[in-house]
Amino acid sequence: MTGAAAGPRPKPEENPAEAARGLRMPRHVAIIMDGNGRWAQRRGLPRGLGHRAGVESVRRVIRGSIRLGVRYLTLYAFSTENWRRPPEEVSFLWHLLGQAVAHDLEDLYREGVRFRAIGAVEELPEATQRQIRLAEERTAGNSRLYLQVALNYGGRREIVEAVRRLAAACRRGEIDPAEIDERRFARELYTAEIPDPDLLIRTAGEYRISNFLLWQVAYCELWVSDVLWPDFGEEDLRQAVEDYSHRQRRFGGLSEWPGDAP
Ligand code: FPP
Repeated sequence: MTGAAAGPRPKPEENPAEAARGLRMPRHVAIIMDGNGRWAQRRGLPRGLGHRAGVESVRRVIRGSIRLGVRYLTLYAFSTENWRRPPEEVSFLWHLLGQAVAHDLEDLYREGVRFRAIGAVEELPEATQRQIRLAEERTAGNSRLYLQVALNYGGRREIVEAVRRLAAACRRGEIDPAEIDERRFARELYTAEIPDPDLLIRTAGEYRISNFLLWQVAYCELWVSDVLWPDFGEEDLRQAVEDYSHRQRRFGGLSEWPGDAP
């Protein structure tokens, strides 16, 4: 494993400040990738080919995030509700994910990406879990882009599990319920180490949160694109970021851009 200091360095032409000149950048972008099925259906193709094309969009968006200087990127790849899909589609998705991670791992490492899965990963097929662990360990020292992939993730479940852990700690007498505030609570979430998303993008035109990062999106700016996920690319990401940079963020107060969410 390699430490951050020895990790890959940005090439000058990809200097984030250069790429994002003039833009007020979101530190953390979260994306609900939607529309793979519709993309395939419109072409008379099986849904699996839509997911396969969706992997290419994931690659483009990772590249675009690095170019723009986004520091944290969270992708919603599989929700706790997605198990309701036909079993063949579910197992194809795990196969595809494992394959994509295995194929791209060295590129991700070289680009300085830190990979992490969030969600109930322990319930995934063994082979997928092994691939995830390998990618997390290999990239643990990187810090250019922190890539979180939400797998078997549910926002409500994340919150309930946090409550359960805190309640158990209270019962053991380790913490006083009066000590539990928003900051303490957030430490129990998968995202404890990283700032809340600034910008949430959803593709394929639906105006829904779909159980994604429910706690963390409290003050997030939303961007819904009609583009189906397999057609989403760097230019779409740049447009979303550009729009974000003109937003007025007040976090419930009166002044604009106070620097950080409460
Ligand atoms: C939504 O489209 C997409 C998904 C449920 C899966 C997303 C997975 C990938 C893009 C592939 C693997 C990911 C990584 C991180 C390598 P949908 O099937 O809900 O589309 P529809 O609403 O048009 O049916």
